[in-house]
Amino acid sequence: MSNKKNRRDFLEFLGKGVIGASLIPMLLTGCNSSAKKALSKINTRINPLAPNDQDILALADGLDFKLLIKWRDQISKSDKFGFNNDYTAFTPLTKDNPNEGLLWVNHEYVDPKFVSGYIEGEKSKEHVEKEMYDVGGSIIHIKRNKEGDWELVKDSEMNRRLNGFTMIPFNWDEPIRGAKAGMGTLGNCSGGITPWGTILTCEENYDSFYGERNDEDDSLIISKYDVGWHAHYPNPPEHYGWVVEVDPRTGEAQKHIALGRCAHECATIKELKDGRLVVYTGDDANDECLYKFISSKPGSLSEGTLYVANVEEGRWESLDYESNEVLKANFKNQTDVLVRLRKSSKMVGGSLLDRPEDIEIDPINGNVLVSLTNNVPKENYFGAIMKLEETNGDYTSLTFKSDTYLAGGVETGFACPDNMAFDLAGNLWFTSDISGSKMNAEPYLEFKNNGLFVVPRTGEQAGQVIQMASAPTDAELTGPFFSPDGKTLFLSVQHPGETSPSLDELTSHWPDGGKEMPKPSVVCISGKPLDVLQGLS
Ligand code: FEO
Ligand code: CA
Ligand code: CA
Repeated sequence: MSNKKNRRDFLEFLGKGVIGASLIPMLLTGCNSSAKKALSKINTRINPLAPNDQDILALADGLDFKLLIKWRDQISKSDKFGFNNDYTAFTPLTKDNPNEGLLWVNHEYVDPKFVSGYIEGEKSKEHVEKEMYDVGGSIIHIKRNKEGDWELVKDSEMNRRLNGFTMIPFNWDEPIRGAKAGMGTLGNCSGGITPWGTILTCEENYDSFYGERNDEDDSLIISKYDVGWHAHYPNPPEHYGWVVEVDPRTGEAQKHIALGRCAHECATIKELKDGRLVVYTGDDANDECLYKFISSKPGSLSEGTLYVANVEEGRWESLDYESNEVLKANFKNQTDVLVRLRKSSKMVGGSLLDRPEDIEIDPINGNVLVSLTNNVPKENYFGAIMKLEETNGDYTSLTFKSDTYLAGGVETGFACPDNMAFDLAGNLWFTSDISGSKMNAEPYLEFKNNGLFVVPRTGEQAGQVIQMASAPTDAELTGPFFSPDGKTLFLSVQHPGETSPSLDELTSHWPDGGKEMPKPSVVCISGKPLDVLQGLS
């Protein structure tokens, strides 16, 4: 790609992917000259944080954090912030003001001992309903105060929740398991932002709430992580496992059937010049697939074709029912292909990947980066970030090249990459997801707690993996998202203390300390290294 094209794509990234077109002029006239400086060279060396196993949110020298919101904080007269926050996405509320906006936050799953107090025996409807309330997402209106710190606008009518009870229509002509809408959204892990400023929130491990359908006899397959909601709310599993679009201004939502049904980690959109969309999404499980949707009409997330990656052949394989005899022989129609995506994708040649999680498009060179977290049964313990280059840089291409961009391991200093984000200067930030039960034990011993890392684009540390944060005990850092001016990194701290044997034996008391229960929270990180890396200081 030419430099001119790189630059144009980068500005497009600034305008569409991160801040909304209305804020481009401010960046061009304001901090953009310093952003150019950062793009050319980072002169100040960043001191890496050493791996840490303390029950704190530790940060690299020069970084600081402020707690924005935590589990059960009141966000309105009637609603509280949910549990296990993951993906965050900030959208400015008014034109040209990067200091006020709406923050969408995913609430992925529940830990019953904290959320409902359920320990063992029969689970009551009351237990289940408490848990249903704590998944989904929060929309919070936030703004910077006089000190420059982000805070909740407490009386804002825009503060609201989506949860396990919210009725959400399916964006599809045909009913899904007999219904035009499903009860609730859950398993909301990572996500994306549309070019028109709505949020895509992805339903990942839905089977732990309502099970999965057994193709053979239509019975329910119960997950080993089952939380038992189906005993009181027998909602069909087919109503979950979708990419859900939410308008943060109204709370209106819809589930996009055309993107298929699986344990979606995220959905990452590229808008084409003609207004059509390309959406990348991964199915986070061992030996599951990577997908790409290409819309046939501008701005449509319902009309188009879904493809699955055949990585060995470097080809996107179509999941279009009408044009595939194998699909016709095994499925009733296109809806059936999409609902039973894990089965249909393998039939057309989808590659079995090592837990494809987050996906980001490199704003400088256009490559598609995919976190492949790990695949322990295949003895891939440390994972990697895969780089995928579409042929001729064309996102509608049906062929591609792929390679390992960064391999996890002791040499590179990280394991199990998960969420990623590019900052305003195109430096790659990513988090790690070593599972709570395996952290601080072999083969993960030397990585200690989960972390946040940056790979500088330029300067003497270009290409190195530098640890910038370390999570509290058992926690995972998720949902990194930059404010429009790049000065704040919003970050979720998810599942601190999740291996606690009981409420009397807590492994974490973060963030309140003392004898308090651990609470998943969102923090705002700022400081000199963030500014230096983006040329903002
Ligand atoms: Fe919820 Fe794949 O992480
Ligand atoms: Ca994740
Ligand atoms: Ca993960």
